[in-house]
Amino acid sequence: METLVTFHDYKPETLSFHDAVIEGFSRERKYIPPKFFYDERGSKLFDKICEQPEYYPPSVERRMLLRLADEIASLTGTGRILIEPGVGSAAKVRLLLNALQPAAFIPMDISFDYLKSVATVLAREYPWLPVHAACVDFTHSLPIPQQTPHGPRLLFFPGSSLGNLHLDEAAKFLEMVRETVADDGMLLIGVDTKKCETLLNAAYNDAAGVTAEFNLNLLHRMHHELGVDCNPITFKHHAFYNAKIGRIEMHLVSKQNQEIRINNHRFNLERGESLHTENSYKYTPEEFLVLASRSGFKSIRHWVDDDGLFAIYLLEARD
Ligand code: AVI
Repeated sequence: METLVTFHDYKPETLSFHDAVIEGFSRERKYIPPKFFYDERGSKLFDKICEQPEYYPPSVERRMLLRLADEIASLTGTGRILIEPGVGSAAKVRLLLNALQPAAFIPMDISFDYLKSVATVLAREYPWLPVHAACVDFTHSLPIPQQTPHGPRLLFFPGSSLGNLHLDEAAKFLEMVRETVADDGMLLIGVDTKKCETLLNAAYNDAAGVTAEFNLNLLHRMHHELGVDCNPITFKHHAFYNAKIGRIEMHLVSKQNQEIRINNHRFNLERGESLHTENSYKYTPEEFLVLASRSGFKSIRHWVDDDGLFAIYLLEARD
């Protein structure tokens, strides 16, 4: 059978790492957005985080998707246009494709080369499935390639990636999803739950130190890509659950007073001062369903695993 795969580069305008670092270090509370974790080494370290026993979301979500695939398909029906922003290696969608039998798949990612190779492999693995790959920054737009057939849409957003957006950004993203899937559309989304702090803290402080390495890699990246003279040894990984706000916070804390020079810019860091690198918001099902409802969705069904660790929601567009 002949495979159908097309590629569309929407040329996402991305803030350069250099500009993000200057902007982030200029703030009173220094901050670099988490999307800059994912250079080649950072992406490999993230894959390794997903293998750590303490970091439960990937394995729990995977088990749930495997168990629920047929039930989900019975609720969505087959033949929808399936869209996945931030598709990465497409590992999770593979658990659903045979059950969902979509009329087309639109994988989206910010890295065009990686997206091309993943889409090509998928089209070979599923010769019955038209694949229209779109290179976009999904936090800004979700353009659907023209070749895409008409039909009801289903957007799949696993991995609790929503958690890395601030609450207002998460609401905006869900509103954009609502517009993209249109009136007969649905959303299938995986979201990490609020739970005992010991488990949450352990998930971001694995014993093998992989999450610490992932966080510190930002400093390696600043050194390699921007020539910044910052020694990762002079920083430590700090991740903790902020119960008041309901999020994990990751920081790089300076172990000493130091000056960081980036071209002609100079920034002073005091001993104990932190560079905030990531938030990972956790939601109770009630909280998430309120957020989803405000963004134009109503719940069809949701599932929480037996230990209350992770939730998957199937929602439909509300008029
Ligand atoms: C990608 N994202 C959902 C992960 C999370 O849990 O917020 C990123 C991560 N950071 C440290 N460990 C995993």
